[in-house]
Amino acid sequence: MVDYSVHGQVAVLEVNNPPVNAFSHNVRVGLDRSIDKAIKDTNVKAIVICGKGRTFPAGADIREFDQPHKEPSLTLVFEKLEKTTKPVVAAIHGTCLGGGLECALFCHYRIAQKTARVGFPEVQIGILPGAAGTQRLPRLTGLHVAMDMITSGRHIFAPEALKYGIIDEMFTGDVINAGIKFAKSVMNKPLEDRCLMNKTVKDADQADQIADEFMSLVKRKYKGFEAPIDCVKAVKASATLPYREGLKMESRLMQKLLLSGQSAAQRYAFFSERAVSRWKMPGGNFQTAKPLPIKSTAVIGAGTMGTGIAVCLLNAGYQVYLLEQNQKFLENGVKTIRGIIEGSVRLGKTPMAVAQKAATLLKPTMKYEDLADVDLVIEAVYENLSLKREIFSKLDKLCKPTTLLCSNTSSLDIDRIGTATKRGDKVAGMHFFAPAYYMRLLENIYSTQTSPTTAATIMDVGRKIGKVSVLVKSCQGFLANRMRGPFAVEAYFLLEEGSTPQEVDSVMENLGMPMGPFKTGDLSGLDIGYKIQTELAKSKGVELSVDSKFLMGERISTLTRTMYDNGRLGRKTGKGWYRYEKPGGKLATPDEEVREIIKDHCKKAGIQRRNISTQEILERLMYSCINEGFKILEEGVAATPEDIDISWIYGFSWPKYLGGPMYYANRIGLDKIYQRICYYHENFPYSSHWIPSRLLLKLSENKVPMSQWCSGTDSKL
Ligand code: 3HC
Repeated sequence: MVDYSVHGQVAVLEVNNPPVNAFSHNVRVGLDRSIDKAIKDTNVKAIVICGKGRTFPAGADIREFDQPHKEPSLTLVFEKLEKTTKPVVAAIHGTCLGGGLECALFCHYRIAQKTARVGFPEVQIGILPGAAGTQRLPRLTGLHVAMDMITSGRHIFAPEALKYGIIDEMFTGDVINAGIKFAKSVMNKPLEDRCLMNKTVKDADQADQIADEFMSLVKRKYKGFEAPIDCVKAVKASATLPYREGLKMESRLMQKLLLSGQSAAQRYAFFSERAVSRWKMPGGNFQTAKPLPIKSTAVIGAGTMGTGIAVCLLNAGYQVYLLEQNQKFLENGVKTIRGIIEGSVRLGKTPMAVAQKAATLLKPTMKYEDLADVDLVIEAVYENLSLKREIFSKLDKLCKPTTLLCSNTSSLDIDRIGTATKRGDKVAGMHFFAPAYYMRLLENIYSTQTSPTTAATIMDVGRKIGKVSVLVKSCQGFLANRMRGPFAVEAYFLLEEGSTPQEVDSVMENLGMPMGPFKTGDLSGLDIGYKIQTELAKSKGVELSVDSKFLMGERISTLTRTMYDNGRLGRKTGKGWYRYEKPGGKLATPDEEVREIIKDHCKKAGIQRRNISTQEILERLMYSCINEGFKILEEGVAATPEDIDISWIYGFSWPKYLGGPMYYANRIGLDKIYQRICYYHENFPYSSHWIPSRLLLKLSENKVPMSQWCSGTDSKL
């Protein structure tokens, strides 16, 4: 676990625990023994600590967090480093994170490869740097930088770390050689001044002001999360308390956070994000299927989705043919793409070199023939099956036989798109979420014909363009939109039965969603919901009227139509479920007129109104979706609950501290959820989304722990 070697008078302690050299119990024991050995060896005059393989230790072993603690603790081991009279050098490469950076902060010197990154990402798993990180970093950088790094969890590259004094020197080339060379250069220098515990925090006199500033920032930016708040308190303590007292405060806050439900949920989300890349489908999986090389791509349609998708591909270095049917649309599309990339450069999110390269990779065209040799086409025209089938049939005829043809559809059947071609095995869905260049979820969809190689390739492209990709089986609405369907429908029913838009929205916002369903509706525009409903009814040969209450035996609400008829189209008209300060405004104010419209609508439709409790709102919005989630699992649309939870986190901004709806259901108790679903099914027999899932019944009856119905092991929960 720790390789020990002596080079002249320098002992090298190389942490060897692939893949990321995490400080597991065995590593702590190994490091402890190696430090003792180096201290005792009179020939050794300096010590170098580094990581074997791809990285310096990337932190404590998160998988051990749910197990009983075993000594020695990280702090106990690290303290030996600072106390020794031999200089200790941390030689950093790869990612020096969390406990790894804390280890380095106990060393007397830190040097790093130019490409190395350092940071304290603990906050992202709901904890704080609990091995003295909150007390030591401010003693090096001052409070401001430490507050920023610790509350955001952001990684910084070596040049920035050098600027803040976190590292003493940058190097290129071999880590061990650089470490030994540096160790030799400091061998006989006094160490008193190199021990961080002896130092004071330089901007301690501004502690109150800086802490207040960050406290209000984190409360706004990370609403609902507990860890950022405790991070601010702990870092402030570095300036207001003596070192040992500060450590006690850090330890108390760390224990509190570790026991909180939030950290467990965030750790589940961390592992789930990685688990979804281990996809499987009938006939193949991530291990058996290899991705095809993709160099050139094409995007069909230069609207909002098409341009967003093109930006993702261009930023990742793919050549992109952007195809539109007329010059004006094409020019607008190119302008939009340039605007997005330039904006991102201004915000410092995209390096100038990437933007310049992107400009050369973009090939606007109006000729389908230009797409003949591309490796991957992503069609992003509007949702119309016949149009998509027509495009796919055309592409099939003119593209080389190996080209993969994908559709950015949010709900249309991929099988029916695939049968328009003679290469169904190379047809799949790539469903991006708007805005495509920003939202991290990519829902990749396979049909009954899609080959595992095609799935492997689009999953690989997803990774390369920085998305969290989830693979699902084709069905109406796929995973994300299908599962969210009952949420939208129940929200309208609640209004009809007596709730107000703000009551419904605040229940979801209090749960941690950034926006409730009605504020979201106002943002997208109420005409969209109305048109979708009308089209759906038409496709079933039904003409809806304002007082229609059923469609093919299913309860429906025509409230959006009533709103539409009243000219309330959402933010764009300054009036929707809320009133706005102006058309296009953002400030949502509850509107008495809406209450009257709803009441009038209900009167006409003969719907009895009543008082609805907050608990009922929550249950009807969430339990209906959870029920659908279990049906999605039952039918194999999603392979694991992690696929579902990650889709909600990255597609619908579900708060990570609740771990995703399936995790949330497990925390509440599947038996309780099942009972309530049965209750609503009895009361609302005309809503098929309340028909209880058989899988949910089975799991709740047999009290199956989540570890057995998710893809990992107990240690993840
Ligand atoms: N503990 C346990 N396993 C870890 C881990 C950790 N700290 N960090 C990564 N892993 C595992 C991942 O789960 C993954 O396992 P899998 O292959 O079975 O899915 C494997 O290592 C590789 O990880 P990635 O797929 O994420 O590899 P990348 O190269 O994309 O990223 C990384 C590497 C940047 C190090 C990223 O893994 C990461 O951010 N890790 C988390 C780092 C972290 O949070 N450190 C703080 C830990 S808490 C701590 O130190 C407490 C201390 O303050 C007391």
